[in-house]
Amino acid sequence: MEITNVTEYQAIAKEKLPKMVYDYYASGAEDQWTLAENHNAFSRILFRPRILIDVSKIDMSTTVLGFKISMPIMIAPTAMQKMAHPDGEYATARAASSAGTIMTLSSWATSSVEEVASTGPGIRFFQLYVYKDRNVVAQLVRRAERAGFKAIALTVDTPRLGRREADIKNRFVLPPFLTLKNFEGLDLGKMDEANDSGLASYVAGQIDRTLSWKDVKWLQSITSMPILVKGVITAEDTRLAIQNGAAGIIVSNHGARQLDYVPATIMALEEVVKAAQGRVPVFLDGGVRRGTDVFKALALGASGIFIGRPVVFSLAAEGEAGVRKVLQMLRDEFELTMALSGCRSLNEITRHHIQTEWDAPRALPAPRL
Ligand code: FNR
Repeated sequence: MEITNVTEYQAIAKEKLPKMVYDYYASGAEDQWTLAENHNAFSRILFRPRILIDVSKIDMSTTVLGFKISMPIMIAPTAMQKMAHPDGEYATARAASSAGTIMTLSSWATSSVEEVASTGPGIRFFQLYVYKDRNVVAQLVRRAERAGFKAIALTVDTPRLGRREADIKNRFVLPPFLTLKNFEGLDLGKMDEANDSGLASYVAGQIDRTLSWKDVKWLQSITSMPILVKGVITAEDTRLAIQNGAAGIIVSNHGARQLDYVPATIMALEEVVKAAQGRVPVFLDGGVRRGTDVFKALALGASGIFIGRPVVFSLAAEGEAGVRKVLQMLRDEFELTMALSGCRSLNEITRHHIQTEWDAPRALPAPRL
């Protein structure tokens, strides 16, 4: 059957993948309320399209931290992609590069920064988890920089791993034929089996729970790469991130895998955008599955979005071709949304092109008695 939208890859991945792997990719934390909400919240935002505008030419290109990309749709870091397909992160890197967009490589990738760099040219960001052992972090950041990565996405919502019950039931662990490749030489590349989630135990053992704003400063002292703070969902933390030197903010709830009952990212976006006051760009990830979702995020002030699960699901289904197709479908849908809304370039997308629940209610006709 022909695939006509991004969501359809999920069912194919479910059929193809071992249950432990599929559940790891698909799950959210606890009741998975935020998981559903990340998606559902988009459906409560409606359009106010403008008509009779010449939309024969549409320009979706933009720049992110000074890097020119073909569209505001980028790839979020998702761990352990070789569980989805033998080509794993290689395939994702090639697909991103041929789409002219940015791939973010996870710290917990099953391919190293050097291996991903060897796939060819491309603009790539490196997602960082801060380990207790700061030498490990410093080495890794240096390697990423040397391998040509352009920015660090510092994940700040994971002092401990969220409670993902499927992983606990499945006793999730990285299959023994794979390693967290970036840490292989540091003796931290393997994941031991545990009585619950092997990943949760790994995090408890290695990740630094003391991480705080001063470490954002420390990170700046060891690298010249700009730092995006990934996992901000409040105005307070937006201001702190900027005060502490963030080059940008990613509004993210980690794909609803950390704290359940946080709002959908699209609901938190405008608060962050207002607090940022244009000082740094604000990005969003979480639940983006349609070109219309991309448009809604931009209308609320995002400079771009990132996708997570669509990448691993399409990778499982069709490898590199699947990831290419996901990027192409989102691009085509976004272009169509722009045309049907009367926007020819990203800066023509405004807050007036959408209507949210929290906008002032429009005058309704008086009820007939
Ligand atoms: C993630 N995410 C994530 N984030 C991060 O900072 N480092 C990581 O290693 C991972 N790994 C990871 C694995 C899997 C399977 C998923 C689904 C997610 C979170 C990711 O970067 C992003 O925030 C969300 O995936 C975005 O939501 P959607 O697009 O999956 O709904």
